[in-house]
Amino acid sequence: MLIAHLTDTHIGLDPGALAGRIDPAAALRRALAHVRGLAVTPDVLLLSGDLTESGQQADYRALRTLFDQELPGHRPRVLAIAGNHDLTPLARQCLADWMPAPAGAPAGLACVLAEQGGLHFIGLDTVVAHQPHGELGAAQLDWLARTLHALAGQPVVLFMHHPPLVTGIAAMDDCGLLEGRAELARLVAAHGGVQLIAAGHMHRPILGALGGAPVVVAPSTSHQLELDLRQNAPLAVRLEPPMIGLYRWTPQDGIACHFSHVQTFDGPFPI
Ligand SMILES: [Fe+2]
Repeated sequence: MLIAHLTDTHIGLDPGALAGRIDPAAALRRALAHVRGLAVTPDVLLLSGDLTESGQQADYRALRTLFDQELPGHRPRVLAIAGNHDLTPLARQCLADWMPAPAGAPAGLACVLAEQGGLHFIGLDTVVAHQPHGELGAAQLDWLARTLHALAGQPVVLFMHHPPLVTGIAAMDDCGLLEGRAELARLVAAHGGVQLIAAGHMHRPILGALGGAPVVVAPSTSHQLELDLRQNAPLAVRLEPPMIGLYRWTPQDGIACHFSHVQTFDGPFPI
């Protein structure tokens, strides 16, 4: 099982807003071409939110068109969750096949449940309408507890927009997952089979852990944020080379997380 993880595609962001240096659609096109060029085709492609910059229907359509153009024919199964820049109901309406709705999920939330290659993917909806921060409320945690109980003994991947981590990037932690982290940790620890928690939101590659499971935050396909760990550091964009996450999993070997730079077409060379 190979999982590609792309996040924070921000389709619709006006390149002029960031000094004309960023074109999210072109960046996603390059990232998808990178996926297409991988020696091993991923089985699943996770999108962990901020699919669009401002939740416009035209941008969800443009996102799908980019996938259709860059990954035609046989391609990974796409699973998506919304982020704080999305309009969650519209995302689910436009991308219903990428966001399969589980029976019994809490009303008004866009949770996702899917099985692929022996792994159970659970997408959590951390979005608080019109707010940059995220939360996991009681209804969703209760649903997750029941879902994980039903999957006792089976391997699970959780994915969500806001990572359940305190990263030290203060301005982003202030709008991170502000409720539900401790409860999520307890559920993950109790299940014991969560192979990975994949998230976005931070626009940086970050690794951590929660409840005994690894947490991986993939960088944006478009623009990264400055790595500044001072307590009052202002947010700033940095145009580091984008990367995608590539996570290999087998029942025997467990999980191994790689990051692959986009646009590195000058190798590999035999040595
Ligand atoms: Fe984002």
